[in-house]
Amino acid sequence: MGFKYIQFQKEPNNIGVLTVNRPNVLNALNWDTLGEFKVFLEDILPGEELKALIVTGAGEKAFVAGADIAQMNEMKERDFQEYVDTAHRVYELIENGSCPSIAAINGYALGGGCELALACDIRIASEKARLGFPEVKLGIFPGWGGTQRVTRVLGLGKTKELVFTGEMIDANEALRIGLVEKVVPHDEVMKEARDLAGEIAKRGPIAVRMSKTAINAGSEMDLQKALLLEKTLVSLCFDSEDRVEGMNAFLEKREPLFTGR
Ligand code: COA
Repeated sequence: MGFKYIQFQKEPNNIGVLTVNRPNVLNALNWDTLGEFKVFLEDILPGEELKALIVTGAGEKAFVAGADIAQMNEMKERDFQEYVDTAHRVYELIENGSCPSIAAINGYALGGGCELALACDIRIASEKARLGFPEVKLGIFPGWGGTQRVTRVLGLGKTKELVFTGEMIDANEALRIGLVEKVVPHDEVMKEARDLAGEIAKRGPIAVRMSKTAINAGSEMDLQKALLLEKTLVSLCFDSEDRVEGMNAFLEKREPLFTGR
């Protein structure tokens, strides 16, 4: 596939694993890594027909330790704006993509790394993971969706505490405040992510995809509009062959064979 800073592997059951691969700098996201990410998400992912995508970091220490500070330090204001634009585009593609995404947080998830995890649908963390937004220590603040996505997950007060102090929290504290969904022993992060991806992969793909849209888009609307969206999507879903198969399989006491139609 010719990527230098990311690796993609397609596994059985249409599960994909995307690894950010710059372990020497704790998988910091430089310009080229974001560029490769964007090409992957725009041009390659749609053709793979994945049922779930796991995002993780190479090496033993980090998921992603944020934006590349050395590279940012060399940027002019215009370059920085383009860099931020690219990161936003990448994270929106993950968040709004039809494929459910799981962040397997195998170490530091800081700044843009924590924002990347938050762009994913579900987060599983190693007990060694450390999460946070150290940007204010560098004279900037989380600008790859952090001020918005974190607020939606944690609420205003906790977000401000994390963002204003720049302090890291450990995995158990992240679990307690709802920043991650599960904490597991370090060696089991990928297994846990694969198991979860496998569970999702067994379900009706149209139902999973449409529920993701209803949850994501609905959470940005007022309740009446969101409920209308939900009604519309669940009715569309009802009209699928997979719905017929799912209900028949239940009544015939067998596993469903979903086709995505
Ligand atoms: N950008 C660029 N390089 C980074 C980086 C980043 N975000 N995070 C780590 N690195 C590099 C370090 O400079 C170091 O490179 P070197 O070996 O050439 O000196 C290498 O990765 C290993 O990091 P190091 O700091 O030596 O590891 P550590 O275990 O002592 O500390 C961290 C780990 C995560 C606490 C520390 O690296 C850190 O604070 N990183 C920056 C996190 C951050 O501010 N992210 C938000 C950016 S907007």
